[in-house]
Amino acid sequence: MTPSDVKATLAFSDGSPSMELPLYKGSIGPDVIDIRKLYAQTGKFTYDPGFLSTASCNSTITYIDGDKGELLYRGYPIEQLAVNCDYLETCYLLLYGELPNQSQKDEFNHRVMRHTMVNEQMQFFLRGFRRDAHPMAVMTGLVGAMSAFYHDSTDINNPEHREIAAIRLIAKMPTLVAMAYKYTIGQPYIYPKNDLSYAGNFMRMMFATPCEEYKPNDVLVRAMDRIFTLHADHEQNASTSTVRLCGSSGTNPFAAIAAGVACLWGPAHGGANEACLNMLGDIQQNGGVAKIGEFIKQVKDKNSGVKLMGFGHRVYKNYDPRAKLMRETCHEVLGELGLQDDPLFKLAMELEKIALEDEYFVARKLYPNVDFYSGIVQRAIGIPVPLFTAIFALARTVGWIAQLNEMIGDPEYKIGRPRQLFVGASSRDVKPIGQR
Ligand code: CMC
Repeated sequence: MTPSDVKATLAFSDGSPSMELPLYKGSIGPDVIDIRKLYAQTGKFTYDPGFLSTASCNSTITYIDGDKGELLYRGYPIEQLAVNCDYLETCYLLLYGELPNQSQKDEFNHRVMRHTMVNEQMQFFLRGFRRDAHPMAVMTGLVGAMSAFYHDSTDINNPEHREIAAIRLIAKMPTLVAMAYKYTIGQPYIYPKNDLSYAGNFMRMMFATPCEEYKPNDVLVRAMDRIFTLHADHEQNASTSTVRLCGSSGTNPFAAIAAGVACLWGPAHGGANEACLNMLGDIQQNGGVAKIGEFIKQVKDKNSGVKLMGFGHRVYKNYDPRAKLMRETCHEVLGELGLQDDPLFKLAMELEKIALEDEYFVARKLYPNVDFYSGIVQRAIGIPVPLFTAIFALARTVGWIAQLNEMIGDPEYKIGRPRQLFVGASSRDVKPIGQR
C-alpha cells in the first residue's frame, strides 16, 4: 500500500484528544483512511452497516468504477476480455495476475480439463436430496461435501493445497451443476468429455443423454462462455466477502467456497437473475407490455415491497458494463435460435426503456445490471430458471478462489472480526422464574 502525503485528523467536540490518521493511495480509485489504531487510541469504533464506506482489504484483482460503469479484471476492461478471451483464460488471469500465452493457456486448460470428474461416491451423496430440491440448496451441500472427498487439498495454509483445490473447484463445478440438474429431472448423469471446451463440456453434461449425443452449437457455447466470463469476479461483493471472512478462520477452501455459494443464493445478489425472469414472467402473464406502467407504479410505491429485479447495484451508479455485453449476447442467441420475437425479451427491452426515462430511476441512478439479460439468454439456451444462480456460482468460483488465495497469501491477514455498537440491555441480574 502506498502511503499518501495527506493525513486525516479526527477531532471530537467534547474536547477528547484528536487523532491523526494516515491515508493510503490505491493505483486507481478512492484513497483509504487507515483506522486500524483508532480503537487503541480513542476507545471508539467506526459504524458502517453494509460496508458503505469501508474497504475490508487491499486487492489487486478486480476494480470497479461504479460512476463510470467500468469493470477491470487485473486492469483489463471486461469489454475486451469478453470479446478477445475465453473463460479459462480469464480464470488464469484472475488466479495468476496475467493473461496466459499460448503454451500457458494449453497447459492450464489441460490441467483443468483433467480434473472434471468427481469422486463416484458424490452421486450417492446427491441421492440424499429430494428431487425437487432447489439447485442452490444442493450446490451448497455438494461444494461443502468436496472437503470430505479431497482430503489432500484442505490445508489452506499450504500453497500447493490451495493450488490443487483451486483447479479442482474450477474443473468440478460444471460437473456438479450438471449433476444437480440431471438429478432433478431424473436423467442419468453424463460424464465430462475433456476434449470439449469448458463451456461446451458443461452444455453437453447438461443436455446430452446416454441415448442421444448433444452437439454443442458454437453461438450458444460462446454465449455460455461469456456468461461465465462476465460473472467470474466482482471484487468485494457479499459472497466474496463471505468467502474471505469464512476463509479467514483457516477453514478449508471447499468450506469457504460453500459459504460463498450460500450467500450468492439470495435474491439481492446472485438470485436476482432467477427473480428477474420470474418477474418478467409474472408481468407477461398479467398483460405484458400494456401492464408495464402499472408495474412501475408498484415498484415506486415503497409500501408494495416490489422491486424491479435486475435493476440497481450497490456499486454501479451507471449502466453495468456487463449488462451491455449480455444484451448483445441476448440478440445473438435469440437470432441464432430464431427467437427474435421472444415476448420476454421484448418485454425486458420495453421495461428497460421506460425505467431509464422514469424520474424515480433516474434520480436514484438505477440502471439494468447483468442479471436483467442473463436470465433471458439462459432460458433461450434451455437452462431451467432455478438453475440460473447455480451457473452464476459455477462462474464466480474462480473469483472467490482468487480472492481467498490473495487474502491467505497476505502476511497482514487476520481473522475477520467486525465490532458492534451495542444498544441492548446493560448488565442485569437473572431473577428466579417465579419473579419474571
Ligand atoms: N427497484 C426499485 N427501487 C430500487 C431498486 C430496484 N431494483 N434498487 C434500489 N432501489 C431504490 C431503493 O429503494 C432506494 O430508494 P430510496 O432512496 O427512496 O430509499 C434507492 O433505490 C437506493 O437503493 P439501496 O437499496 O440503498 O441500494 P443498495 O446499494 O443497498 O442495493 C441492490 C443494491 C442491488 C441490493 C438493489 O438495487 C436491488 O435490490 N436490486 C434488485 C436486485 C438485483 O437486481 N440484484 C442484482 C445485483 S447484480 C448481481 C450481483 O452482482 O450480485
